[in-house]
Amino acid sequence: MLSRTSLASWQALNVHAKQMKFRHMNEFFATDKQRFEHFSVNAPSLLLDYSKNLVTQETMLKLMALAQESDVITWREKMFSGERINSTENRAVLHTALRSGSEQSINIDGANVAQQVAASLDKMKTFTEQVRSGDWLGYTGKRITDIVNIGVGGSNLGPQMVTEALKPYSDNRVRVHYVSNVDGTQIANVLRPLNPENVLFIVSSKTFTTTETMTNANTARQWLIASSFDEKSVAKHFIAVSANVNNVSNFGIEADNIFDMWDWVGGRFSLWSAIGLPIALDLGFEKFKELLVGANEMDQHFCQTPLEQNAPVILALLSVWNCTFLGAQSQAILPYDQSLHMFSAYMQQAEMESNGKSVSWHGNAIDYPTVPSIWGALGINGQHAFYQYLHQSNNIVPADFIGSIESVTPVKGHHSTLMANFFAQSQALMSGVDEQQVRADLKAKGRTQEYIDKVSPHKVHKGNRPTNTILMKRISPKSLGSLIALYEHKIFVQGIILQICSFDQWGVELGKGLANEIQQELEQNITNGNHDSSTNSLISFFKSSFR
Ligand code: F6P
Repeated sequence: MLSRTSLASWQALNVHAKQMKFRHMNEFFATDKQRFEHFSVNAPSLLLDYSKNLVTQETMLKLMALAQESDVITWREKMFSGERINSTENRAVLHTALRSGSEQSINIDGANVAQQVAASLDKMKTFTEQVRSGDWLGYTGKRITDIVNIGVGGSNLGPQMVTEALKPYSDNRVRVHYVSNVDGTQIANVLRPLNPENVLFIVSSKTFTTTETMTNANTARQWLIASSFDEKSVAKHFIAVSANVNNVSNFGIEADNIFDMWDWVGGRFSLWSAIGLPIALDLGFEKFKELLVGANEMDQHFCQTPLEQNAPVILALLSVWNCTFLGAQSQAILPYDQSLHMFSAYMQQAEMESNGKSVSWHGNAIDYPTVPSIWGALGINGQHAFYQYLHQSNNIVPADFIGSIESVTPVKGHHSTLMANFFAQSQALMSGVDEQQVRADLKAKGRTQEYIDKVSPHKVHKGNRPTNTILMKRISPKSLGSLIALYEHKIFVQGIILQICSFDQWGVELGKGLANEIQQELEQNITNGNHDSSTNSLISFFKSSFR
């Protein structure tokens, strides 16, 4: 298959980008009083305003042509119908089936996906109700008060991000804790205040081989047995979510306590499966289902809305425009809602593990810039930390502003202050302020000419920095489901346009393999000496200095 660079739409965008680099968004707003109407769309649970991008109607037409020529619609159908679009692992990509509520059968390896999903949801519901009602008892007959989820990457970030976001919806029947880091400090801090008699561990690992998770799970197991003096207590205090039933059984977890995962669900898209159990335990199963409903509504929007009005498609095309054609190298995710304080970290894995690649589907080197690095933090905290860079550095960082019309936990006087900043920042990033205006403002304040000459260049903001604004009514299980699915589909469309296999992650293997070798050197006093001189010396310094 030909590189995307050979497409007529790609070449047209290249020429167009060279002209657009000399334009300023201020000019577009001045000449089109309805720019907001022209460049915003409604999608389930949210409004997307993309008018503060360096785009004209012509740009959007050209981007839509690129989506058409890249066969986004055909690829979308392939994904939803269960074709093995994860080509390097020969797997289907069906996280959307986890929330479709559909009975329509999709057959993968002789199994009906719809039936598998329905059975898993039933099992989750029963289990969630048992634990939350106090029917599930620990080895001394006490109820479960604390859930500790042990998992990393996709088996941690999604559930933890959602748990944090939906805290106001929790009835606190159980407390949910997360352990992801193999640094023993984390698990030690989590376990210290807990009583083993009341704790239920969820070992979440699709592969059940991930070193960090297995190390933490073994530590948790020892902690329990040190108190129960009975291996059988594991059955009452450990459940697992995994696709690797053999390894789970070898760990000592009973067959009934294993929740399925399937190879057609990628780790970073798995919070909709039993990987989401901590969410269901915290909020109750009905609220977990609302999350699925919200995501499914966005799936419907993605499948049924024309590309021109399709929010995930628009977001994907704008990212390609800003990064591939205009040269931006990173993108900030800036939530103005405390509930979303982990959203940027979650998006980092979702986008960077999916599309952070440099080889096309066909194994050819990709010769154009692909996706940006994703970073960010709560907007208000960012304003007092890194926004200086967003406003005045030489590097343009496109940013997504995400906010809510209503606070979930209203406190008098807070929300309008928060949202005033939300609106002000994207306006400032777009419009900037030129030297003439800076000088006039300083003069009006009575500053001396000497001071004005000295300070004016520093106060100029060039503006013209692209932002998207995503406005939700309020954070709820449903609206959060829609928001996450919006980004999932954006990532998918980006991958299709850039010819990236978005659903594998070979790039994490090399370091993992080396770590396993080095761990043996550290623990068994072997000196392998086969590393580069820096690594060899660091290892021997570590061993000689800290033993
Ligand atoms: O190493 C990366 C990764 O494979 C992620 O893709 C995944 O989400 C994470 O590790 C955890 O994997 P598992 O669920 O198999 O423990």
